[in-house]
Amino acid sequence: MPEHLIFPSILTADFLHLEAEIEMVNRSEADLLHLDIMDGVFVPNLTFGFPVIRQIRKASKKPLDVHLMIADPDRYLEAYRDAGADWLTVHYETCTHLHRTIQNIAELGMKPAVSVNPHTDVSLLEPILGDLNMVLIMTVNPGFGGQKFIEGSWNKIRKLKKMIVDAGTDTLIQVDGGVTEENIGELIRAGVDVFVVGNTIFSAENPLQVTSNLKNAP
Ligand code: DX5
Ligand code: ZN
Repeated sequence: MPEHLIFPSILTADFLHLEAEIEMVNRSEADLLHLDIMDGVFVPNLTFGFPVIRQIRKASKKPLDVHLMIADPDRYLEAYRDAGADWLTVHYETCTHLHRTIQNIAELGMKPAVSVNPHTDVSLLEPILGDLNMVLIMTVNPGFGGQKFIEGSWNKIRKLKKMIVDAGTDTLIQVDGGVTEENIGELIRAGVDVFVVGNTIFSAENPLQVTSNLKNAP
């Protein structure tokens, strides 16, 4: 049985037929559903808000992994929980009191994660590693689907893996951006546990088959 997890990102899904897209994910071997929340301030793009998340929650049989690419996320932690978030990720670059934010997410009953942009060193998370369910290494600059995997990510993944082994925590490593059927095997071997996949799944002729290929990648 594969140990890695596949989280389809609906960013490149067909929003006119979102229910059908979510039903496809329900039927697939995917583990959670990844929702990208963008505010047009922290990232140069906008996506969707609470009413849409609530509808997705109703349609999805998979738990929701909500990735906040928004300035000052502390204002909305409870609102995302109430809308249906099971796992909640904030960006390192958006939180002045990151440890407090992480504690609040956990106290609200969600699994806390922190994401780092391509320029942010993973060693900055070393003091709070044990408090995190997951670290998200952005393997593209956040804001858009369908971008190319940034090669400098490999060193960050290996460094984070070593940090986790040294600290003896069970923190998961997630990558987001540019994951393909070609690079997933090497990423698994580098220590990645959780794969966010947008374009590779939703632009495929047969998204169910591609999701299965990713889930069963050697
Ligand atoms: C980018 C988002 C990603 C995006 C990944 O800011 O965080 O979740 O959907 O898309 P692909 O897999 O197309 O690179
Ligand atoms: Zn994302």
